[in-house]
Amino acid sequence: MSVPAIEMLDITKIFPGVVANNRVTFTVEQAEIHALLGENGAGKSTLMSILFGLYEPDGGIIKVRGRETRIRNPNDATALKIGMVHQHFKLVRNFTVTENIVLGLEPRNSLGNLDLRSAEKRVKALSEAYGLAVDPRSRIEDITVGMQQRVEILKILYRDADILIFDEPTAVLTPQEIDELLAIFRRLKAEGKTIVFITHKLKEIKAAADRCTVLRRGKGVATVKVTQVDERELAEMMVGRAVNFRIEKAPAKPGDLVLKIEDLVVLGSQGTPAVNGLSLEVRAGEVVGIAGVDGNGQSELTAAIAGLLPALSGRVFLKGRDISRESIRSRNREGVGMVPEDRHKHGLILDFRIDENLILKNYWESPYSSPFGFLRFPVILRHAEDLIREFDIRSGSGAATPAHAMSGGNQQKVVIAREIDLSPELLIVAQPTRGLDVGAIEYIHRRIIEERDKGRAVLLVSFELDEILGLCDRIAALSKGQVVGVLPAEEADERRIGAMMGGVHA
Ligand SMILES: Nc1ncnc2c1ncn2[C@@H]1O[C@H](COP(=O)(O)OP(=O)(O)OP(=O)(O)O)[C@@H](O)[C@H]1O
Ligand SMILES: [Mg+2]
Repeated sequence: MSVPAIEMLDITKIFPGVVANNRVTFTVEQAEIHALLGENGAGKSTLMSILFGLYEPDGGIIKVRGRETRIRNPNDATALKIGMVHQHFKLVRNFTVTENIVLGLEPRNSLGNLDLRSAEKRVKALSEAYGLAVDPRSRIEDITVGMQQRVEILKILYRDADILIFDEPTAVLTPQEIDELLAIFRRLKAEGKTIVFITHKLKEIKAAADRCTVLRRGKGVATVKVTQVDERELAEMMVGRAVNFRIEKAPAKPGDLVLKIEDLVVLGSQGTPAVNGLSLEVRAGEVVGIAGVDGNGQSELTAAIAGLLPALSGRVFLKGRDISRESIRSRNREGVGMVPEDRHKHGLILDFRIDENLILKNYWESPYSSPFGFLRFPVILRHAEDLIREFDIRSGSGAATPAHAMSGGNQQKVVIAREIDLSPELLIVAQPTRGLDVGAIEYIHRRIIEERDKGRAVLLVSFELDEILGLCDRIAALSKGQVVGVLPAEEADERRIGAMMGGVHA
């Protein structure tokens, strides 16, 4: 047998208040696809960041292709032909695809000038060789998330990486893009590349990985051959108990009309209507889902209801009141809550602590502020501690942890905890379980149903059809900024919804 591509032996990494990796051993063979699985905060990103030279371990050794090495920074990793695609992409938005790929390694001509032509040629050759379709001259801000990810992959291939690390690459992708990415993994493997990928989706592990290593609370639990385990066993290994994949709920009892959208038109970033004459109603006590392929207006729709984007025309009513021209804060106050799809951009202030992030929408009110406008820190802290317990939010220093020092899934739990705690009349949840582990998803789904049963109106946007079918009482299919049709959950299945998403009327 050839030497392993990677051997991480007895790796320990300590952050304030938490042992993120506790003597973890992780071995990856050459030309294998190896999945890394574990609960939110289990230490997956930390372990991979160590391999990529972003953190130095406090203990343990790393061997690359059989040779013991120290990886002090990402340049060392690159020299060892290790590349990483991060959970949150690191591209320059107003640069082109090619400019991003060659950044730091710009080819020069004989006069020493930047030679983008030859770079474009090489990018084109690489993209054809691996089936990574991109337009070399587009700007990052104008392309889809799926294409941005292909740019990230090309960027590491351009640097000749043959060990490729992906941190939750499928969290932001649509089901079709996921299939494409897994096909790319297989092609890379056939070329002799080694792939490590982190995911919370057990289906993907079964579909693409050869082996899987499971971490729990900083420790390595097991490494298994994927063909020898099923999804339930994987879930149990990672959370340490059986996980219920079915969402238990009683039939909805819809009440008064809470949200009414009439002929809404909202412009997208291109300046053309992304929401184009959309009408929709959500009643108290029901969950209405929006199913649609990414880019059909779902982001602009939720942004317009919450007040983040203006409505060009049409109206949004909350309990009969037209709120379409109101400020974000007054909409919040009247009962609009939202878990936004981009937690970093619209959900959190990354430099603030957890307790501060948990009162962003009402810190000026009682009981968090005194009548004289002073913050009441003990109350704020207690509030945070309650929610941390309730939502099982894990971090090193409890309520005092800054959001940027939390794992991705735990950041998501903070946003969800804040919005559910406010118990708004209308709760908009966009991709609520993105980045959450199966145990956390089970809990969040239950809480969303509880909100429904308390008489709240819930609008769910998700790319996960399973989630839509499992949670919703009615499902609206969105295509080109319009509702193509609305189906009661009993009549919906994957095939019918899929056809409607493609624009076929039910
Ligand atoms: N820069 C940091 N400073 C302090 N603590 C950190 C830092 N990065 C991670 N941690 C802590 O280390 C632990 C492991 O975090 P890590 O990001 O590796 O988890 P993860 O397995 O990737 O989780 P997720 O699935 O939610 O992304 C967590 O408790 C986290 O709070
Ligand atoms: Mg992570």
